[in-house]
Amino acid sequence: MRQASARLSYYDLKPARDSFLEEVAAGLARPQKEISPKYFYDQRGCELFEAICATPEYYPTRVETAIMQSHVREMARHLGAGCVVVEYGSGTSRKTRILIGELHPLAYIPIDIAGEQLRLAAAELAAAFPELIVIAVCADYSRRFALPGLAALEGSRRVIYFPGSTIGNFTAPEARRFLEHAAALARAGGGMLVGVDLKKEHALLDSAYNDARGVTAAFNLNLLARINRELGANFDLAGFRHRAFYNARLGRIEMHLVSVRPQRVALGGRLFSFRDGETIHTENSYKYSVAEFRKLAREAGFEPVACWTDPQRLFSVHYLSVAA
Ligand code: TRP
Repeated sequence: MRQASARLSYYDLKPARDSFLEEVAAGLARPQKEISPKYFYDQRGCELFEAICATPEYYPTRVETAIMQSHVREMARHLGAGCVVVEYGSGTSRKTRILIGELHPLAYIPIDIAGEQLRLAAAELAAAFPELIVIAVCADYSRRFALPGLAALEGSRRVIYFPGSTIGNFTAPEARRFLEHAAALARAGGGMLVGVDLKKEHALLDSAYNDARGVTAAFNLNLLARINRELGANFDLAGFRHRAFYNARLGRIEMHLVSVRPQRVALGGRLFSFRDGETIHTENSYKYSVAEFRKLAREAGFEPVACWTDPQRLFSVHYLSVAA
């Protein structure tokens, strides 16, 4: 489906709607129960995520924004004016505005699973940058899909923007595969600007995913509320609590929903049993050193060109190129 004005178009590739029930049921049938984090982002989930980014504990959004503001001129020189910027998981596109304001790209292609937020963000961006072509694509980028709108932009240099350390939500093999796809899309001569949260003191990491006001807990639990609302399950939200901790051996934050008692939950005509203390694993957030991330990027066919960090070295933004 496509709606278009001259400069702003919207494609709805109907992400994951058909497979939501099957995927959740399959995840709950595993020995370690799991649900993909892509399902966090219904309307309420998007709001709660924005609220997480504003908590005092969750430093990544603030620090990455500050890195962008401090170094955007140099970043724009690497990317090159007149390019096509493709962003995965664009959300509200707030950080992207900093980049676009300096870069003057030909076109911006935001991709996100959350349609309403995407529609709004794309319309605001198109209004703020009157020369810019904006092609919004509502899609689940964890699956293969053909990116619409590119045919008319053939011949332009392509740059992938992937901020927010969302790369950390993939396991290393998934991240490598994702980067390989990104390199193929960017083609020889193109590049990628990617935000990566850094390894650091564990207490800082733990508190970033356990804010005192419980916004992250509400975000995690909203997954169950959404499954109740959209799939007619009967999760008792008081029967589960949020748990997030840094797993140093695996170099990742793990987010879980912990069953506080033995219980059974009905979903799609099936019953799923939970032991007391049993968890649903809802997200990983891998942390990288600069060297670790550069190695991963090289393995995926990119050449690390530049890396910017904050003075405390909490967060990094890398520019990677695809060799011509
Ligand atoms: N990808 C970011 C991270 O892992 C942001 C994020 C995604 C997040 N899901 C989250 C932050 C859940 C807090 C809780 O940090």
